[in-house]
Parts: sequence; structure tokens; C-alpha cells
Amino acid sequence: MIVLSIETSCDDTGISIIEVKDSKTKVIFSVLANFVSSQTAIHSPYGGVFPALAKREHIKNLPILLEKALKKAKIKIDDLDLICVTSGPGLEPALWTGIVFAKELSKKYKIPITAVNHMEGHILSVFAKSKNFEIPKEASKVGFPMISLLVSGGHTELVLVEAWGKYKILGQTLDDAVGEAFDKVARMLGLPYPGGPEISKLAEENRKIVNLRTLAQADEPSRAIFQQKNMRGEKIHNLPIFTLPRPMMYSKDFNFSYSGLKTAVLYLIKKIDVLDENTKKAIALEFENAAIEPLLHKTKKAIEKYNAKTLIVGGGVAQNKHLQRILKKEIKKTKIFFPVRALASDNALMIGIAGTLSYLKKKKSSKNVKAEGNLSL
Ligand code: KG4
Ligand code: ZN
Repeated sequence: MIVLSIETSCDDTGISIIEVKDSKTKVIFSVLANFVSSQTAIHSPYGGVFPALAKREHIKNLPILLEKALKKAKIKIDDLDLICVTSGPGLEPALWTGIVFAKELSKKYKIPITAVNHMEGHILSVFAKSKNFEIPKEASKVGFPMISLLVSGGHTELVLVEAWGKYKILGQTLDDAVGEAFDKVARMLGLPYPGGPEISKLAEENRKIVNLRTLAQADEPSRAIFQQKNMRGEKIHNLPIFTLPRPMMYSKDFNFSYSGLKTAVLYLIKKIDVLDENTKKAIALEFENAAIEPLLHKTKKAIEKYNAKTLIVGGGVAQNKHLQRILKKEIKKTKIFFPVRALASDNALMIGIAGTLSYLKKKKSSKNVKAEGNLSL
């Protein structure tokens, strides 16, 4: 079976073509082509994604990427057996571009369509470790129950995965998503969009110097000075250390909140006269700790409560080095999967994997696919 998949939920246009072999015990995937056209440079001046621009770019990119993918896969459109397309969650004008494109192809070439939940795509993205990979069908081989931590610019969710297609949202952010908080704080620090990797880079530089954890429980943002001395007792660094709150870290549920943390950074910056490089690094480090620690704490709690055999981390923020490091350090008995770098952010390959599994299970296509901005798992 040859499957085309399309992703246009936000600011990345993705097209992928995979070859799928379905056996009794597993589904075998082979990636024939996988292209993403990033619009980061276009949205960068706005400090976030501008929906009308995203729509225009998707419409322009889709036919170009399809042609490129068909050429790379060395197939013709007639060879396609299934089209998987993201139907939500995401920006509706952006989602519609992919859906309309899929429907036109479907009608013209008589190919069935499967609508895919973007978040299910992020969960399944972790299995594509190379060009050829397989996903077992037997529950015991896959490692259910799983906990999935989905962290991106639009989402912060803890999901219980009991089987493919059987998801329960345990908790989610009550306001901003964690990636969104990274982007907004980066903007406050004068860093380019997307801000996650920029903050992380600054924080990592500082982590090498200030290798100590700041107080996690402080309610009020505070400030101290860290003086690093060399062997002779001479002062070599004079770095500020800030303390920010960890919102909802100890709340008795699996929810998160990032808007208070973002505001705490805003007030902190207002009090600072000169935002020099050392101060920016110190804020980046403490913000990263404050944003990541609640994720670790609640993920651990969810794994314990549901006796999870596997942890899957997905979404753009899954690339964060500090998150990866502390999850690996603090969670020992549970197998942890992260997506490869190229598949952590939005792509069509993950949509192809999720859509194919769902199509093989249901054995029927989706009718009247429509964009659902708030689609939940
Ligand atoms: O999954 P994704 O590509 O798009 C959405 O569906 O949102 O995630 C993008 C988000 C952005 O907010 C970006 O700043 C964040 O992921 N991100 C990171 C890192 N790399 C990307 N956040 C923290 N640390 C990173 N290394
Ligand atoms: Zn995403």
C-alpha cells in the first residue's frame, strides 16, 4: 500500500509518501519521501504564526512539495492507495488548505482519505527512527499502557494511551502552552522566533557555569548573585541568579499553567535596569527550569499512577535538551521514546503513520473531512 500524507495545521507544510506492508503481527513502514517546507522566516517578524500568511504559503507549497515527493518516491499519483490528512487541532484556515488539496486529489484519482488528529501524529512520530521501521500490533510488544507527554507551541498534554486509537487526556495546560511560553519569554529577551531553541541555547551555556539548582518553591521572583571563583579564590564569574515560580507543580491533578510564569518573567525584566548577556542567560536558565520541572513532576506521577510501561514525548519542545536529560535521569524503569530531531516538529510522516494505523484498524475511509481547530484526542 502506498500512502500520501499531508500536514498543514500550523506554519509548516508537510508532504510525505510511505510504503506500508500490513502483516498479522506488525505494520512495516518504508519512507519513500518526506518533505517539510518551513515558514519560520515569514512569521518571524510577527513573533508568532500569522494565520492568513500560513494559509497563503500552504496553498503555494502543497503542489510543489507533492511533485517533489512523487519524483523522489519514483511513483505516479495513480499508484497511491490512501491519503492521510490532518483535520485538527490547529489553525482552521491552515488546516483547510491541506484538506481541500487532499479532497481534490481524492476525487480526481479516486483515492480514499483518512482524517488524522495532529496530536496522534506527534505520539506516533517516535517510531520513525530510520527510513524503514515497524510498529507491532500486539499490545504486549508495543508496551501499553503508555503515557504520552505532548509539548509544542500549541499544546501541553499528558495522555494515557491504552491502545492505538484509545486515548485519554489526563491533564493539559489551563492557559498557554509550554512552547508558547518559551516563544513569548524569548521575545521579551529580544531573541528571535521560534524562541524555544534560543532560550535553550542560552540556558545550556549558563548551565555549564552555574551547575546548581535554584529554589523550586519560591512564590516571588527573586534575585541573587552567583560568584564563581577559581582555585586561587579569585572571582571569575559574577552571574545573577533568579528564582521564578513553578506554577501548578504540586497541584493534585495533571494540569499545567504557563501564563503566570510568563508574567513573572515580564515583571522581573521590568525591574532590571540593564538586560545584558549574563542577565539574559540567567533568566533563560531559570525560566527553562521553571517551565520543565512541572512537566517532569507530573509525568512521573502519571507513570506511577497508571503503571505505564512506556513514556512517549512528542512535539517541538521534546527537542529540549534539559527536558530530555531530566526525564532520562529521573525516570528509570519506564522505556522513554523521543522523536528524532527532524520529526519532533510538525511533519507529514507522523500523519501518515497515524492515519495508516487507523485506516488499517477501521478498514474504512473518512467521509466529509472538515477542519476542527479544537479537535481533541
Ligand atoms: O510541534 P511544533 O513544531 O509546532 C506546534 O505544533 O506548535 O512545536 C513548536 C514549538 C515552538 O514553540 C518552539 O519554540 C518549541 O516548540 N521548541 C522548543 C525547542 N525547540 C522547539 N522549546 C524548547 N526547547 C527547544 N529546544
Ligand atoms: Zn505539532
